[in-house]
Amino acid sequence: MSTKVTWYGHASMGVHVDDMNILVDPFFSGNPAAAVDADSVNADFILVSHGHGDHVGDTIQIARRTGATVIANSEVANWLRVQGLNVHAQHIGGGYHHPFGYLKLTLALHGSSMPDGSYGGNPCGFLLTTSREEKLYFACDTGLFGDMRLIGEEGIALAVLPIGDNYTMGPDDALRAVHFLKPQAVIPIHYNTWDLIKQDPEAWAVRVEAETDAHAVVLMPGQQYSL
Ligand code: NI
Ligand code: MN
Repeated sequence: MSTKVTWYGHASMGVHVDDMNILVDPFFSGNPAAAVDADSVNADFILVSHGHGDHVGDTIQIARRTGATVIANSEVANWLRVQGLNVHAQHIGGGYHHPFGYLKLTLALHGSSMPDGSYGGNPCGFLLTTSREEKLYFACDTGLFGDMRLIGEEGIALAVLPIGDNYTMGPDDALRAVHFLKPQAVIPIHYNTWDLIKQDPEAWAVRVEAETDAHAVVLMPGQQYSL
C-alpha cells in the first residue's frame, strides 16, 4: 500500500505508512482550520517539532487515548514524559530506525517554549525515510536556511513547507526552499489558519510549477496525497 499523507489544517499532518499511523504536530482543538477532531484520529507515533501550542496541540490527549509514542527533541520529550506519555527523544542530526521508517531530526530556525512557558529546546523539522526508500521532509516551523540544499541532496519525494509568512517562511522564501530541496512534490501548510498568515496557495503552486521541477499539491484540510 502506498504512503499517504493527510493535511488536517494548519501544521497538522498524518502519515500512513506500512499500516502505521503517524501524526505530525497534531493540533485540532482550537484550530479553526481543523478538518476533524482530536478524538477521531488514530496514532501509533506522534512527532512534535517544537513546544508551541499550535504544534504540541492535542498531543497529550491523543497519546493518552491511543498509547502512541511521542518523538521530539529531549526537552519537549521530557516535558511530555512528565505528563505520563511514552516518549522517544532525539536531537537535530540524529536519526533512528523506528517501526515506520528511519527518522532524522533536521534544523529549523524558529523558537520553542512549552505551553506552560518552560524551555522547549531547539525546534526541528523531520526527514522520514520509509521502508520503500521514499524520503518525506517536513520543514515544520522555520525560516529559509541554505542547508536545505544538503537535505535536497538526499533526494526528496515529498516536501511539506510552511508558506504563511510572519512566523515562518512566506511564499517567496518557500519557493526558494523548493529550489534548494528539489522535491518531486511539495505541499504548502501553515497558512490561512488566521488572518495573520493569510496566503493564496494556488498562486504559490502556479509559481512552483512554472519555476521548478516540483509538482505542487494544494490540499484542503482533510484531503490526502498518495506518494
Ligand atoms: Ni511555532
Ligand atoms: Mn506554528
